[in-house]
Amino acid sequence: MILFHVLLALSAATLASADTLINTLQQNGFSDFANIYQEADPSILSSIDVGSNFIIYATNNTQSAVNSTLGRRSSTRPTRQDRIAARSAVQNWATRSKKLRFKRQQANSSAAVYQSLLSDPEIVNLGPGVNQSLVEKPVGDAGVPTVFAGADKAVPVVGDDIPFDGGVIRPVASLLEIPGSIPSTLSLFPNLSNLTALLTQSSLAGPVSEAAGITVLAPDDSAFAAVNISALTDEQIVGILSQHVIVDYVGYSPLLKDGQVFKTLANGTITVAVRDSGVYFNGAKVTASDVIVENGVVHTVASLVGSGDGENPPATGAAGRTGLGLKTLGLAALGLAVAALF
Ligand SMILES: *[C@@H]1O[C@H](CO)[C@@H](O)[C@H](O)[C@H]1NC(C)=O
Ligand SMILES: *[C@@H]1O[C@H](CO)[C@@H](O)[C@H](O)[C@H]1NC(C)=O
Ligand SMILES: *[C@@H]1O[C@H](CO)[C@@H](O)[C@H](O)[C@H]1NC(C)=O
Ligand SMILES: *[C@@H]1O[C@H](CO)[C@@H](O)[C@H](O)[C@H]1NC(C)=O
Ligand SMILES: *[C@@H]1O[C@H](CO)[C@@H](O)[C@H](O)[C@H]1NC(C)=O
Ligand SMILES: *[C@@H]1O[C@H](CO)[C@@H](O)[C@H](O)[C@H]1NC(C)=O
Ligand SMILES: *[C@@H]1O[C@H](CO)[C@@H](O)[C@H](O)[C@H]1NC(C)=O
Ligand SMILES: *[C@@H]1O[C@H](CO)[C@@H](O)[C@H](O)[C@H]1NC(C)=O
Repeated sequence: MILFHVLLALSAATLASADTLINTLQQNGFSDFANIYQEADPSILSSIDVGSNFIIYATNNTQSAVNSTLGRRSSTRPTRQDRIAARSAVQNWATRSKKLRFKRQQANSSAAVYQSLLSDPEIVNLGPGVNQSLVEKPVGDAGVPTVFAGADKAVPVVGDDIPFDGGVIRPVASLLEIPGSIPSTLSLFPNLSNLTALLTQSSLAGPVSEAAGITVLAPDDSAFAAVNISALTDEQIVGILSQHVIVDYVGYSPLLKDGQVFKTLANGTITVAVRDSGVYFNGAKVTASDVIVENGVVHTVASLVGSGDGENPPATGAAGRTGLGLKTLGLAALGLAVAALF
């Protein structure tokens, strides 16, 4: 009880003496990064109110590529500065109610999804009023807090939080990516070459890129090894791929709960299993999670995902299944999805 009050008092004192974002950045070795905010649309800076609870993901002056990534400001269109500035500022809704605002970032802290100020409709398509989000979660044996903000990049947190009058500056190893479209993001992964090729040639490329707020399960090339891709008809390709798209839900990994059921673009269902050994969608194991895209999130999976009928997720702690039989896929995913097209 006493400790609680002491900490509260400390927190209030820190807040009272904290400086503005720009000053705090400049005084702590982040002046190149401060330039991003100073050259960006002033409305971004002014929306970070005193006493609010923002996290600013910032790179220090010795880190490469801060300056080189910046374009010049043009008159009306949002610039790269605007986007970087908006992207790096996230409102910490998750901890808003907590009194200990400036708690040190601990290793092995739990995972979180934060909504940023990036709202540019040209590159954010998550539904009305929803800004682009990012995921922060512990990675590796040491549980290093790591930010997943776009493309195939994982950006580690490299220092303790530094308070300013509207939240904290959280040092990261590099600038956060601006998320791209699904096809352009998938093409960054060498082990998703089959999926990228199939999606690009199918009539689903447009709808999947344009749907607001979706989750894509991306089977890697090993999942396609048993499939004679060149023998698939267009309808079969669309059928397989639409079973890998969860509609109307952006399933960032920290939000996934064991037993959740989602609807797919093929009108099938997908059940989530959260196990000690990992996360599974209808038994397909997630291999890389939280690849953030303009209109949702992508998780890579080690096998093709069936329709969910008769699927048994692995028992608690089990190593998990390695793949879905072609027969099951043919009967379940293909049959259902192709049927759904007509
Ligand atoms: C970045 O640019 C600013 C001014 O444009 C300059 O003062 C600073 O030295 C540059 N930093 C690096 C690391 O090149
Ligand atoms: C979304 O971003 C805009 C600025 O681009 C900001 O005014 C608004 O508060 C943000 N919304 C949320 C929920 O963070
Ligand atoms: C983080 O968690 C992992 C396993 O969950 C553990 O091996 C590691 O020691 C933990 N690290 C710290 C700093 O607590
Ligand atoms: C800047 O960040 C890097 C890690 O990304 C770190 O190694 C370096 O010590 C930091 N420089 C300063 C002056 O804090
Ligand atoms: C699938 O990927 C493998 C490499 O893993 C490649 O050899 C094969 O040509 C690809 N097939 C198609 C149709 O892209
Ligand atoms: C794959 O399908 C094509 C077209 O139907 C066929 O010509 C080819 O022999 C098949 N390859 C294998 C290994 O079955
Ligand atoms: C595919 O590549 C990504 C990194 O590009 C990696 O995280 C993932 O584990 C790889 N998947 C497999 C099955 O190797
Ligand atoms: C999915 O099911 C609904 C009715 O439940 C139907 O209106 C819709 O056309 C179906 N979509 C597809 C792609 O089959």
